[in-house]
Amino acid sequence: MSTHQLDKKSQAWSALFSEPMSELVKRYTSSVTFDQRLWQADIAGSLAHADMLAAQGIISTQDLADIQRGMAQIRDEIQSGRFEWKLDLEDVHLNIEARLTTLVGDAGKRLHTGRSRNDQVATDVRLWLRGEIDATAVLLDDMQRALVHVAAQNVEVILPGFTHLQVAQPVSFAHHLLAYVEMFSRDAERLADLRKRVNRLPLGAAALAGTSYPLDRERVARTLGFEGVCQNSLDAVSDRDFAIEFTSFATLVMVHVSRLAEEIVVWMSQNFGFINLSDRYCTGSSIMPQKRNPDVAELARGKSGRVVGHLMGLITLMKGQPLAYNKDNQEDKEPLFDTVDTVKDTLRIMAEMIGGEVAADGARAGGLTVQRDAMERAALRGYATATDLADYLVKKGLPFRDAHEVVAHAVKTAIALGQDLSALPLATLQGFDARIEADVFEVLSLTGSLNARNVLGGTAPVQVRVQIARHQARLA
Ligand code: ARG
Repeated sequence: MSTHQLDKKSQAWSALFSEPMSELVKRYTSSVTFDQRLWQADIAGSLAHADMLAAQGIISTQDLADIQRGMAQIRDEIQSGRFEWKLDLEDVHLNIEARLTTLVGDAGKRLHTGRSRNDQVATDVRLWLRGEIDATAVLLDDMQRALVHVAAQNVEVILPGFTHLQVAQPVSFAHHLLAYVEMFSRDAERLADLRKRVNRLPLGAAALAGTSYPLDRERVARTLGFEGVCQNSLDAVSDRDFAIEFTSFATLVMVHVSRLAEEIVVWMSQNFGFINLSDRYCTGSSIMPQKRNPDVAELARGKSGRVVGHLMGLITLMKGQPLAYNKDNQEDKEPLFDTVDTVKDTLRIMAEMIGGEVAADGARAGGLTVQRDAMERAALRGYATATDLADYLVKKGLPFRDAHEVVAHAVKTAIALGQDLSALPLATLQGFDARIEADVFEVLSLTGSLNARNVLGGTAPVQVRVQIARHQARLA
């Protein structure tokens, strides 16, 4: 395709076309409005390809120098906003190539030797995504650090642990937060694992079958920092499983975030009053002057929906596509871009809202405030230490099922009296089982209950401190 034809693409793709493309079709098929975001990857990929073409003697060193010079100028133009993106040139690849040819002439026309936009776009998306994966990994670590930071200050703070959202057993607030650290650390592992599969080079697959030029694909892979080369040209240009994998990772992150966000919303409600968020992260109501709403957490919860949607979109996009490249794949970009933006913004804002803003020296300011008394009062409602009483009786020789029954009677009485188990007189408790002695009150206390769960992974403060130390070392 000559420069002339590239610039006049609206009129004809090549000599083969005698009719100009309809305006509607041009808009429908063009991707430049969104894929221009790939420009850095596109230039990097082209430079690596050109370098290899020259090393293999496929283009001259003068051509390579011209291409490098042209690309440097194009980079400047794009960075400074002077580059003119043309809808007529369909996508980021043709826009940059056409400009290159305008700037450096024939060398620009030689760049596309042994290459197709099919392997070019697959390379660009992988390169771009790799950078975003690395940025996301940092944010995932920051999120975990924020949670560990708040956890470290709240090991001895007790709130009711829930099952079925019914008060179940007392737990350390730190332990509760560390549950999310576990989730996000698994997300980070998934991300590191999928990065290996994203980080492979499609270039050299050309349109679908490979190319007749003696390309050195390994060299291009090395230049671009890819860990390997896609081993089948048809697969290289067509599959977008790497984008699906990332979006599936992001879906899990957002699902985890949505659970945490939901808890923050609930904890912030007056009916719980477990935490407070700083004004920076709350919004008011235009009609109810008393309102302070946890909008950030609600939006984070809501935005999980769009990422789940993108995952469904991408999977459906891929399903049933015959080998090899189909234009369907142009539809991979918007969902992938939005997934990246959403997951990064959400992690950043949630980490800040929870752990505060981190200064250059690591000092934190702001973050959520814990209402310790409200948490403990709530833990004292709902008979959270009933299991402890049963365990106490088991240790005194009663079979667990019988102990369970004894405690059910005790709870029934306590409910009728409107009191916690620990507030019942010893004589009353002994009425349920004669084995109960004065040491029961330590067992029925929140701290006694917590300390008793001194098993690996349990909520006893000694265990929680072990976990905090482990996470701190891991995230240092
Ligand atoms: N804009 C296209 C995409 O995003 C680039 C590849 C076009 N290839 C083609 N044969 N039309 O997928």
